[in-house]
Amino acid sequence: MANPVVYVLNGPNLNLLGTREPEIYGSDTLDDIAGMLEDRARELGLEIEMRQSNHEGHLIDWMHEAQAEGAKAILLNAAAYTHTSIALHDAIKAIRTPVIEVHLSDPMTREEFRHISYVGMAAVDCVSGHGAKSYLIALEKVPDL
Ligand code: DQA
Repeated sequence: MANPVVYVLNGPNLNLLGTREPEIYGSDTLDDIAGMLEDRARELGLEIEMRQSNHEGHLIDWMHEAQAEGAKAILLNAAAYTHTSIALHDAIKAIRTPVIEVHLSDPMTREEFRHISYVGMAAVDCVSGHGAKSYLIALEKVPDL
């Protein structure tokens, strides 16, 4: 039987990881993160479906797809949409697939406009503030979901 799949969905500007404000987000690229996740997923008997989009609707379509495909969980770094998107909040509530919120930085210790998380109000868990490792810590939580 195929391994359970974990969708890892990344929002706007995360395609620029590596060069984007490295003092905040670190120097790992999204491809580096995908590689780390795939290595660990193999050990955990999971498969990774890694995606990135700068468009809110793509993230929503992919969450619906994750449920339709029977994904085990979604790791979601919605980036700035975290703080603005009721549509993403509703999408998380609309599916049964558990969603773990992920951030490289810790938005709660940054500007006030980052303190609200519409994603976090609907997600089952949140990992933030560990740089690229936030994704790996979130992946460790999947087998228990
Ligand atoms: C982020 C934090 C958000 O506030 C910001 O808009 C991002 C990245 C993070 O991973 O730390 O784009 O989600």
